[in-house]
Amino acid sequence: MNRHDSERVAGILARAGWRETREAREADAVIFMTCCVREGAENRVYGHLGDLKTMKQENPGLVIAVGGCMAQKEGERLLERVPHLDLVFGTHQFTGIAELLEEAGREPLSMTGLNGFELGGLPLSRRESFRAWVPITSGCNNYCSYCIVPMVRGVEKSRPRKEILAEVVGLVREGATEINLLGQNVNSYGRDICGRPVFDELLREMDARFPNVWLRFVTSHPRDFSDHIIEAIADCDSVCEHIHLPIQAGSDRVLELMNRGYTKDYFLGRIARLRERVPGCTISTDILLAFPGETEEDFLETLDAVERSAFDSAFTFIYSPREGTPAARLPDSLPRQVKQERFERLQERLRSLTLESNRRDEGRTLEVLVEGPSAKNPAVLTARTRHHKIVNFPGDPELAGRRVMVVVEKAGLWSMQGSLAG
Ligand code: 5AD
Ligand code: SF4
Repeated sequence: MNRHDSERVAGILARAGWRETREAREADAVIFMTCCVREGAENRVYGHLGDLKTMKQENPGLVIAVGGCMAQKEGERLLERVPHLDLVFGTHQFTGIAELLEEAGREPLSMTGLNGFELGGLPLSRRESFRAWVPITSGCNNYCSYCIVPMVRGVEKSRPRKEILAEVVGLVREGATEINLLGQNVNSYGRDICGRPVFDELLREMDARFPNVWLRFVTSHPRDFSDHIIEAIADCDSVCEHIHLPIQAGSDRVLELMNRGYTKDYFLGRIARLRERVPGCTISTDILLAFPGETEEDFLETLDAVERSAFDSAFTFIYSPREGTPAARLPDSLPRQVKQERFERLQERLRSLTLESNRRDEGRTLEVLVEGPSAKNPAVLTARTRHHKIVNFPGDPELAGRRVMVVVEKAGLWSMQGSLAG
């Protein structure tokens, strides 16, 4: 979502006549698009802002701006805390960014109204021609008790289907071969405009209109991951066989405190159904460890759920309290050491599950979308399978953005090695 926000803000600025530079030193304005879902993300932004202090002293005309979630959450407080900051603009303030930069050049400014805004017709300045991000909903109504997102992104709002399809038509015309539908909970798409979720219908329509485009989506909420959606995934050839389904925790007690709206058994039932209807589908997840009051028993439930879900990959986070959320009022009494130790035990199990999953691909010939030369070795290309796994293989950089067949030769933890097939 942040990546998309940045592309949107850059697009709006490009239309207003701004140009991007590679070097902050050459810039008239530096803009940070931010996340505040965890404390660590926020701390990094403070670090980056600190780094710009001397640059601002040398060039007082430089406008420094913070946009997006952290801006929304902190507002004026950010201007007070970082005196060399000029502009704070929230998650609903992108449309006016060019005017805001001009104004902030004269006097520091914070704009954080959550008054809604229309994405339709707003330009995008995309980083990759072949992969595109398309928001289908904004905001979130789930109010998971640990999560700041509903406070900083506002209530859930679905984009009209016509507007989404028009945007995708444009993206495909420009050469996009992979579309990623975005939303805090894509599974509830349409609830606010049709009275019921119609995400399955959107998938089917996308599949019919753009059969040659790889279709992905994030994020699914297990509670709303219905049989209709699973059937649409099974039926639509363009939908990639990888689902990101955050479990967060395995203990029913903790899931209830988190306000997630499902139990461990319900989650496992969704996974079983998905694996039955979409054989070979890979599943990734998010796990939130050390929620206030998590006991060893609760943690063992998470380990058990991980074991039985056999996730192909996972992101693990240690809980950090977010001011203004219900969970932030609960005593966070677990010693740091215990949190770290649970994190490591979980990581160890997850690592072996990922390795097992990657090893199953050894010897297989798979279609991949080539992203470009690998960061480490320009003679090697990096690509992604439909199952969302990374394969590196020697090849011509000209293949970037193309879909090719590769033979997987060796599985690693983070990526697999292969070679072009035939
Ligand atoms: N602390 C740690 N992790 C969090 N997440 C959301 N809120 C918090 C928090 N307060 C994690 C969840 C979510 C992912 C995007 O970030 O696991 O799925
Ligand atoms: Fe946060 Fe829950 Fe909404 Fe995800 S579904 S954005 S975790 S409140």
